[in-house]
Amino acid sequence: MTALLTVTSIETLYFDRIYALFGVSVEVRDGEIFAILGPNGAGKTTLLRTIAGLLKDQPKKGTIHFAERRIDGWQPEAIARLGIVYVPEDRGLFKELTVAENLELGLWGRRDEAVTKDLDAVYALFPILHERGRQQAETLSGGEQQMLALGRAMLRRPRLLMLDEPSLGLAPRVARTVYEALGAISRTGTTILLVEQNARLALGVAHRAAILEAGRVVLEGAASDLAENRDVREVYLGIGGVEQPPAKTWRLYRKRRRW
Ligand SMILES: Nc1ncnc2c1ncn2[C@@H]1O[C@H](COP(=O)(O)OP(=O)(O)OP(=O)(O)O)[C@@H](O)[C@H]1O
Ligand SMILES: [Mg+2]
Repeated sequence: MTALLTVTSIETLYFDRIYALFGVSVEVRDGEIFAILGPNGAGKTTLLRTIAGLLKDQPKKGTIHFAERRIDGWQPEAIARLGIVYVPEDRGLFKELTVAENLELGLWGRRDEAVTKDLDAVYALFPILHERGRQQAETLSGGEQQMLALGRAMLRRPRLLMLDEPSLGLAPRVARTVYEALGAISRTGTTILLVEQNARLALGVAHRAAILEAGRVVLEGAASDLAENRDVREVYLGIGGVEQPPAKTWRLYRKRRRW
């Protein structure tokens, strides 16, 4: 598989002095699901926002290539036009508009023949969106809002779908439904880059993954290998060690693990 997105040694700073990413490199191949795992404040959102061109004058160093074009420094609209669709952590919905109106916004600017077909595909994936067409987005449950955000993103025909913590705030069963949908979206050929704190869900669906801690990639590989890694199992999956390492023991884990 060839690389669709290649991030090479990027450095992103806030206010020109607070480092959020220190030389991060990631390669996302055509057709795969790539997951970035990491604790709060690791820089996961910053990485997606840097790729989407949403942080002015960032990255300060390094390069970002997408489909063989160098895109770092581009305006966010130009990056979006290449087919990079970013679903932020808050889902980015228009809460006062209805479900159908939010989906229409996903179709904005599209005049092609496939609009109806794509809309049908979204309704087939998430039948609830069809049923709730006239309901205000704000009144949807968290899971339904995530489905609406994914459905709307799919109508933009993404070449790369970037998702920030799609399972955040969802009940486990709902989160699993969302992840099953991601599997289905991936099987249609869409490449997905997602960041997650829920390692179990993400490693279950991803082909490859990386672990980001304090602005650095500390481990990278096949998702199945990461799921077998002793440190990942202890720290991120809660297997073989204490279930949820409390904040105090975190430092001990940091010392013991091998990255
Ligand atoms: N707008 C901002 N201005 C200044 N610093 C910021 C800003 N956004 C994020 N940071 C800092 O950059 C670092 C990385 O933040 P980021 O939001 O990328 O982490 P994250 O991995 O997405 O965390 P979480 O899991 O909590 O969403 C943190 O130290 C954070 O405080
Ligand atoms: Mg975040």
